[in-house]
Amino acid sequence: MNNVNRTWLDSSLGIRERVRLLMNVMTIEEKVAQMIQISFSIVTPEEADEWARRGAGSFLHVLGNNSRRLQRLATETRLGIPVIFGIDAIHGHTIHNGATVFPTQLALAASWNPLLAEKMGIVTAREVAAEGLHWTFSPVFCLGRDLRWGRVDETFGEDPYLAGLMGAGAVRGYQGDDLASPDSILACAKHYIAYGESTGGRDSYDAPVSMHRIRSIFLPPFAEAVKAGCMTVMAGYNPVDGVPCSASKKLLRTILKDELGFKGFVVTDWMNVISLHSRQKMAADLKDASRIALEAGNDMIMTTPQFYESTLSLLAEGKVTEQGINEAVARILEAKFRIGLFDVAEKVKTLTLEEDPSAKLSEAVYNCPSHQKINLEAARKSIVLLKNEIINGRPVLPVSLRKGSTIAVIGPNADSVRAQFGDWSFFTHPTPHLDSVPTFRVTTMLEGIRAMAEKQGIAVVHDKGCDIFDPEKHTIEEACRIAGKADIVFVATGDTLIQTGEAHDRSNLALSGAQNALVLALRKVCDEKRIPLVSILVNGKPLEFETVVNASDAVLETFNSGTLGGQAAAEIIFGEISPQGRLPISFPRTTGQLPVYYNQMPGWHEGRYYDCETTPLFAFGEGLSYTSFRYDGVSLSQNTARESDTVDVNITLTNTGVRDGTETIQVYVSDLIASVVTPVYELKAFAQEEVKAGETITVTIPLAVKTLTVVNQDEKTVVEKGDFEIRVGHDSRAESHLVTRVTVV
Ligand code: NOJ
Repeated sequence: MNNVNRTWLDSSLGIRERVRLLMNVMTIEEKVAQMIQISFSIVTPEEADEWARRGAGSFLHVLGNNSRRLQRLATETRLGIPVIFGIDAIHGHTIHNGATVFPTQLALAASWNPLLAEKMGIVTAREVAAEGLHWTFSPVFCLGRDLRWGRVDETFGEDPYLAGLMGAGAVRGYQGDDLASPDSILACAKHYIAYGESTGGRDSYDAPVSMHRIRSIFLPPFAEAVKAGCMTVMAGYNPVDGVPCSASKKLLRTILKDELGFKGFVVTDWMNVISLHSRQKMAADLKDASRIALEAGNDMIMTTPQFYESTLSLLAEGKVTEQGINEAVARILEAKFRIGLFDVAEKVKTLTLEEDPSAKLSEAVYNCPSHQKINLEAARKSIVLLKNEIINGRPVLPVSLRKGSTIAVIGPNADSVRAQFGDWSFFTHPTPHLDSVPTFRVTTMLEGIRAMAEKQGIAVVHDKGCDIFDPEKHTIEEACRIAGKADIVFVATGDTLIQTGEAHDRSNLALSGAQNALVLALRKVCDEKRIPLVSILVNGKPLEFETVVNASDAVLETFNSGTLGGQAAAEIIFGEISPQGRLPISFPRTTGQLPVYYNQMPGWHEGRYYDCETTPLFAFGEGLSYTSFRYDGVSLSQNTARESDTVDVNITLTNTGVRDGTETIQVYVSDLIASVVTPVYELKAFAQEEVKAGETITVTIPLAVKTLTVVNQDEKTVVEKGDFEIRVGHDSRAESHLVTRVTVV
């Protein structure tokens, strides 16, 4: 048994051939084992070892020496097929205390910069690979359209086009040009599909969406993932049209694998297979659940190890074919070959950290200066200035304070590492450790402002003001007392860890605790003292900020900005850099107004509620800078076009302010008459330009006519002839748009 000739190790052969050679000698047990992914966090170490000996294809959530031990056991098996280790490196390799913590996906999306997502991916891949792991369950291609959902912070926002581009950037970063390189890891596009659209924003519930909506709104980002070469896709928990994603042949086989041509492997989400029986009651027992999952086209089974026994019985009973298993195993093994597990020694770490001479070197990559530099760039470009009033003839931000002045920094999120990190870090995963202490430097909002102020001889005073949850626990009086002695007051509000994340949905997005009361009290002090009040929002996702915004003279949205968010915010506050972020998501005035995403279908009554303004508090695309821009005229290279054409959209843009600035020019398209109802308009292109103060430039943005699609009544994605309105402007609000037309013939 032990002297199998390992012909598949010959790297001069093509990958398909190597997979074939390996599969030729695999027993059916060895094949089914490759489909199993074991979660290290819910088995005993002995059970994990046993699975490694049995040849389990993958483990997740294993760090340090545990992964090294399991890998050694795997490579000592008859065929020595290395394990592929998966990890939730969601905004950095954040489960490892010490690794770089980036802004969350939602925050990063505010940069509208796919290249930045790619750089984040490169850094994360390096840190994940240094640990001996190979695969991140990221990026999330779900859309954040129901803000009650706990995982909105994990999305790239509400828009399919922006989310697709940002996600594709991250995929390119993780996987690199050469998957076999020691620094490349596999990406995973998740959660396929419409997971964020679950009923009532309740995580994992039924997604009441039609195939029309799937194809027009939720599929396009995944199509971008496939185009970017994403090697794995995770099937969501949720049912669509009554069929859980992991049970849907139509979604997995027909659409993903056949239509989109996805060549990698599908992994289920956590316990999806067992849930087909236990929760979703689609399968009479585990065996039936395993059969359904296999037939639907899942290749790797996360956290239902019983799939192994069930599938072997199903095979013995002739209820599933070996052919079905071969297809799945071939996809998994192909990925293992492609990332170099059979050829690149660095990728298969089997020595303990103490024995491994390269372990120290690897350790040095975590949070290293070059990674921090990229993280800082991400934080800087992700912060959005939402309001900046003019007081006494000058804008509130950037601050201009004399030496000897005082800044008050108040609020429950002014000095909160946890709130600033957001979900998916060692604080919350794989099991919650809310009292963890980061082993590296984190700059909170308070610390960022203090560091900058001290350089200028400005004093900083601080009070938390209130608890983030408990309205009774507050020090509003003390906060007002110190605010009254300051020359400007900053107040940081928002949410904290347990108010976002999986299974942490909210029925009410109102600010918790006494946050509104705190801000209103500070407003009073600021009015009396005639000093400005600036809000810094530190939040996983949009909340009901109307009271805070109305009470503030300036507002900076920082979301979950990661390790260096406080530094980036302070640089903006003190004017060292100009803010340039744009909202990737619309903000509601009240929870009952949801959904407020911009690309809604037209209705009769302008979407009015009798008791609430029609507009969102802030719309998708909004964001100010320290300068201002004027759009002068938009023209097209052609006003009649064919489907194969690319039309150039030309805009004259002037920086009318006194500072240089970066403008994100957005192109929305409205299909004027279509065979089905289409959204009012949709983002189809954008460009980001740095413009010097006073300068006028012409910006040309290519618009491919083939992207002006509708999903017709036959579920076909087509370009229909007729007129399209091209709307160019600063953000998604119609009043910011210059409008022209193209006729597609
Ligand atoms: C469940 C989550 O839905 C998914 O996003 C994650 O990757 C897996 N658990 C593994 O932790």
